[in-house]
Amino acid sequence: MNNLTFGIIKPDAVRAGNAGAIIQKITDAGFKIRGMKLIHQSKAQSEGFYAVHKERPFFSELTEFMSSGVCVVLALEKENAVKAWRDLMGATNPAEAALGTLRKEFATSIGENAVHGSDSDENAAIEIAYFFSKLELV
Ligand code: CMP
Repeated sequence: MNNLTFGIIKPDAVRAGNAGAIIQKITDAGFKIRGMKLIHQSKAQSEGFYAVHKERPFFSELTEFMSSGVCVVLALEKENAVKAWRDLMGATNPAEAALGTLRKEFATSIGENAVHGSDSDENAAIEIAYFFSKLELV
């Protein structure tokens, strides 16, 4: 599965009207979109998705935010997809994100940072399966 990764356009970016511009940049960067849909997660669904962070001090803030509005969830295909998507997103903290990255352009803070991406092939498979059924992947 090293050609697939999982991404989220987070509620801050959707609310700001940036989802279309972000999707354009994703396809311009050579990704194929294999799955895409709008979701508005419950707090419980968001807690399940970010369960790995449940001991972190920002867990409540993170899951509150992620369930505060509509997200776009994405299954993305490209060679070395996990790294390619992380490179396009930029650093988690937008203050540290490189010029030309999505977080540099669209993120406002470390919490409201516009996009999410899987950190490994293993987690990409788990995260895609959390939001998509096989039928929803083309
Ligand atoms: P993401 O890639 O979605 O994975 C976990 C998220 O936790 C991360 O992006 C950030 O948005 C968020 N996060 C990380 N560190 C902090 C922090 N110090 N305060 C608030 N949110 C954080």
